[in-house]
Amino acid sequence: GGKFFVGGNWKCNGTTEEVKKIVATLNDGKVPSGDVVEVVVSPPFVFLSLVQSLLRNDFQVAAQNCWVKKSGAFTGEVSAEMLVNLGIPWVIIGHSERRSLLGESNEFVGDKVAYAVSQGLKVIACVGETLEQREAGSTVDVVAAQTKAIADRISDWKNVVIAYEPVWAIGTGKVATPAQAQEVHSELRKWLNANVSAEVAESTRIIYGGSVNGANSKELAGQPDVDGFLVGGASLKPEFLDIINSAT
Ligand code: 13P
Repeated sequence: GGKFFVGGNWKCNGTTEEVKKIVATLNDGKVPSGDVVEVVVSPPFVFLSLVQSLLRNDFQVAAQNCWVKKSGAFTGEVSAEMLVNLGIPWVIIGHSERRSLLGESNEFVGDKVAYAVSQGLKVIACVGETLEQREAGSTVDVVAAQTKAIADRISDWKNVVIAYEPVWAIGTGKVATPAQAQEVHSELRKWLNANVSAEVAESTRIIYGGSVNGANSKELAGQPDVDGFLVGGASLKPEFLDIINSAT
């Protein structure tokens, strides 16, 4: 996989004051250089410009979602073009909270990834199974179907990072074991190898998300197919710096 990637998904959290505090903490942190780790933080839309203006310039920003049309009568949506216009380089697409709470299907997520990529955005595309699906033994089938809906719609993977986020591990404190994460990451890489290309399988970063913290990130980062993290709760705290430092 490529350069280690650490994303911080702030979800629907923060006030202007809190955002300024988080950014100040990140700006003061000691982390490996930009050729060792790529760091991307994702505040809510309303704080994107503020964070971008204050954040150290070796870190980047991501939106948490975007729309599939340039502009028009789509109340409440923000287009990929608008993000590009603001100079926002990254977007998270298909987070499990949007899939489950807002009904985003595999196909719609695939359409969004393809549209965002076509506009020049870099995409963190999220996949992951529920506890029920894991217990039914369908984890690999579920993440393969989610990945296929993306693969069917894009040909260039160079601006795509896959985030494997088992739903049962998100916000629960129940982190996947390093072996569980490694197994699914390896299956995803095999799927890319068989269905896209050996080159894409080799170069695409597959990052893990779900209850990652400063205490468990090092061991997870040591797994051969874990190319980084997408961090929720801990990305709002100073320990996000420890997670970034687990890259080395
Ligand atoms: P937590 O790290 O809070 O479990 O959230 C993970 C996540 O959903 C990141 O996108």
